Amino acid sequence: MADPTLLQKYPSFADLARRAKSRIPHFAWEYLDSGTGAEHGVDRNLTAMSEIRFTPRFLLGEFETDLSTTLFGREYAAPFGIAPVGLTGLMWPRTEWILAEAAARARIPYTLSTVATETPETVGARAGDMSWFQLYPPRDRDIRKDLLARAANAGFTTLLVTADVPASSQRERQKRAEVSVPPRKSLLTYWRAAVRPQWALETLIHGEPRFRMLEAYANSTNMQELAQFVGHNFGGTLSWDYLAEVCELWPGQVVVKGILDVGDARRCVEAGVDGIVVSNHGARQFDGAPASIEVLPTIAEAVGDDLAILFDSGVRGGLDILRALALGANFVLLGRAFIFSVAALGEKGGEHAIELLMSDLRSCLGNLGCTDLADLPQFLHGAHAAD
Ligand code: GLV
Repeated sequence: MADPTLLQKYPSFADLARRAKSRIPHFAWEYLDSGTGAEHGVDRNLTAMSEIRFTPRFLLGEFETDLSTTLFGREYAAPFGIAPVGLTGLMWPRTEWILAEAAARARIPYTLSTVATETPETVGARAGDMSWFQLYPPRDRDIRKDLLARAANAGFTTLLVTADVPASSQRERQKRAEVSVPPRKSLLTYWRAAVRPQWALETLIHGEPRFRMLEAYANSTNMQELAQFVGHNFGGTLSWDYLAEVCELWPGQVVVKGILDVGDARRCVEAGVDGIVVSNHGARQFDGAPASIEVLPTIAEAVGDDLAILFDSGVRGGLDILRALALGANFVLLGRAFIFSVAALGEKGGEHAIELLMSDLRSCLGNLGCTDLADLPQFLHGAHAAD
């Protein structure tokens, strides 16, 4: 059961972010919170989002809007899910399990990243049919085949193939904070861990974060070697041909994650994928990209009838979910917000984040006077309003 006192104490993701920052080491916080470059992209995502407004309508009496959403033939309790996040266990040990279990209970999807720190087998057992899998496409075809087979066998239904990390990104803030995998064994690292005793204790108990999913291919459990393995085997791999091969292999739905261009979106339709995620990777890759919400309407108009449109980047609450839905998304993913919550509250973090979003959605819809999520575009104000 969700804890009502937490809704009182941490009524927004900003509250959770503040607490997370005080509970986890500086390098983990910087990894989680940072964007890239001068971080204009992070601000742009948030500012552009905040500028989408709705005009409320009143005198509707009592009503409750049904939040349940069908996507790819499966019903979810709400139109949002948990985005893939790499190195998850660095922010809080066993974050994947906490979120997978909370997602399964609430009936929303949880997406496991290729570079998360737990395996598809242990996460699939916890998230059940709410498991989605994110693929960073490996160069080696045998590894790809095995990874996809493992995810499918573990019960994962939907595959997100990441397109928007074609090259590594500078991430200056992470460099300054000496974020490295594994964390550098320096006095500064030990000091930064020591001043976060709960994190340090849990990490000691659960073991240092490692790319556990990839250990079988790297033939190593040493994080230094695993990180080198990732460096050599991932990145710059995805092409339209490669995507076609992935579609052949995956038995469920394929969604291309990280589309910002209408031409690319059209090409995804031609490639026969089931969906795209309009995303700029939380502004972590390229600081010159537009805010994801800015490009969403044009992409939705061009291909919204042909495939499912998912959305992420800059989503920090229920209102932002409604903004993305109103501008053409069918479903919305949040990454940082969920990790803020687990880093802040540990075991209770997954459930609290979901409850926070649910209650925010209900409150916003009630105050807007929107009785059906499909009607959201009719409430858009100003430049976004339909003619
Ligand atoms: C991984 O996907 C990251 O953005 O750090």
